[in-house]
Amino acid sequence: MYVPSNVFTNDDLTKYMDTSDEWIQERTGIKERRFADRLGETTTTMGVEAAKIAIERAGITPHDIDFIIFATLSPDYYFPGCGVLVQRAMKMKEIGALDVRNQCSGFVYALSVGDQFIRTGMYRNILVIGSEKHSFAMDFNTRSRNMSVIFGDGAGAVVLQPTEDGNRGILSTHLHSDGNDAEILALYNPGTHANHWKEGLADYEEAEIGELFESHAMIDKGQNHAAMDGPVVFKKAIIKFPEVVMEALDKNGYSTTDIRLLIPHQANLRISQFVQQQLKLNDDQVFNNIQKYGNTTAASIPLALCEAWQQGKIKEGDLICLAAFGSGFTWASALLKW
Ligand SMILES: CC(C)(COP(=O)(O)OP(=O)(O)OC[C@H]1O[C@@H](n2cnc3c(N)ncnc32)[C@H](O)[C@@H]1OP(=O)(O)O)[C@@H](O)C(=O)NCCC(=O)NCCS
Repeated sequence: MYVPSNVFTNDDLTKYMDTSDEWIQERTGIKERRFADRLGETTTTMGVEAAKIAIERAGITPHDIDFIIFATLSPDYYFPGCGVLVQRAMKMKEIGALDVRNQCSGFVYALSVGDQFIRTGMYRNILVIGSEKHSFAMDFNTRSRNMSVIFGDGAGAVVLQPTEDGNRGILSTHLHSDGNDAEILALYNPGTHANHWKEGLADYEEAEIGELFESHAMIDKGQNHAAMDGPVVFKKAIIKFPEVVMEALDKNGYSTTDIRLLIPHQANLRISQFVQQQLKLNDDQVFNNIQKYGNTTAASIPLALCEAWQQGKIKEGDLICLAAFGSGFTWASALLKW
């Protein structure tokens, strides 16, 4: 894992918007988050820092990596994706690089894709990265305070390799989506949608052809920042998280008592607590670190996985469940035997 050194507390946010430490902690559990160096760090550079550690711990070199999968919603460029920037920055061979755009469930989706390539024998060392630099694109005004108090920057990475032991590693992955609520948590602009799916997402007042991707009116109205209907996300998340965890357990013949550690995507501490309650898990069966990092989207699961492992909470043979829910909506789980 890699997180920027700059700690941004809830009190720091009050300098930019009408909010309070009390409100943020009560509704989300977040105390502080990290913000990347404004110009010195990017989503890719943070991902590379995490990747260096993962590659070293796997006992290999960047030259041994034969495929890159990069999950993010805050890429350095609209295109090309961050995967090729990692290939360049880490001086890797001319290997394939795939970018995954599944927001909060991006890391689990990426893991699932990597798992399939390993199972078919196509690749032996896959680098999977989740990284976000939210601080760059968020609207630090009161109008967007329901969003901007939640998100933080950071990166996590893993190296996937094959094993001969059929009872170890990724046992199964489960991926889902429901596009009916695609606009509930989204960054619509700049984009090519032209209000096709929903009226009023972008204001094209006086925009000519060539200016429709990002019109001046759109920018003036702050429509170029992410927007969210928080209560709708909350209600759907607390249904889909337990569902997708149970799907993974059922598929492999396990029950909730067998879980050593559930690592939920760190969306909101209240969501994690609700899920824990629903699944009747003990406190030591669920790992949360959103208090320190906020919601780091595609990075949150590898960040939590890394911290849990560093704190000795994951040991060989443990049953670990990763579960995520977010924008799309998309949701996913992975059951691992460590
Ligand atoms: C975002 C979230 C914390 C908001 O909490 P909530 O209790 O649902 O709050 P609401 O959006 O209904 O707003 C309640 C009030 O708080 C205000 N408010 C919103 N953000 C605020 C902030 N940062 N500080 C202070 N007040 C805030 C609202 O303006 C509203 O005021 P009003 O009642 O005067 O209109 C909550 O909905 C949530 O966590 N949703 C899930 C979000 C999530 O997990 N997203 C990531 C998914 S991967």
